[in-house]
Amino acid sequence: MGNVYVFDHPLIQHKLTYIRDKNTGTKEFRELVNEVAMLMAYEITRDMPLREVEVETPLKTAKCKVLAGKKLGLVPILRAGLGMVEGILKLIPAAKVGHIGLYRDPKTLEPVHYYSKLPTDIGERDLIVIDPMLATGGSASAALGALKEMGAKSMKLMCLIAAPEGVERIQQDHPDIDIYVAAVDEKLDEKSYIIPGLGDAGDRLFGTK
Ligand code: URA
Repeated sequence: MGNVYVFDHPLIQHKLTYIRDKNTGTKEFRELVNEVAMLMAYEITRDMPLREVEVETPLKTAKCKVLAGKKLGLVPILRAGLGMVEGILKLIPAAKVGHIGLYRDPKTLEPVHYYSKLPTDIGERDLIVIDPMLATGGSASAALGALKEMGAKSMKLMCLIAAPEGVERIQQDHPDIDIYVAAVDEKLDEKSYIIPGLGDAGDRLFGTK
């Protein structure tokens, strides 16, 4: 079964508090989400492989390390996933960004994959799939499934807030995928909002209602 890593770093928790606050406006909300995404990316990339190089310092030749060049890819799930991309790219500017979109069929309530545009070499990349609110886990599970069908071999799921129901769903459907999250909240309400959560992440990021 995949692991769940909850990032309890004080800076992440501090910023998350203001993200949750209903009085935080769109501009600040967007900035804070990107800042948390950047801090989370720092932790998520902890296992990136390094290789040794030599550099000439002003004093001596030094054996040092640089990233071994393993290719990364970010795949935000539309639309709220977009809100975390900029922050991650500040740390990892060379990452390629793919997009995947799903909507919920009003009759079956099942997620339907309607759009994707991905790097052509997704099978060779370590992908970070981004879904800020892991509620029922339906969209994230469908997105991970679709990405596997399209050739993805290595994926991590990055969320801001998860409900226990969403975590369970991913662990059941995708036991090979680790989840990285800033908080696991209490539960879902009857409309599948995360409680206490932060409301609708897409609406708060983009100022829609
Ligand atoms: N999506 C959101 O944006 N918020 C929730 O609470 C659940 C799903």
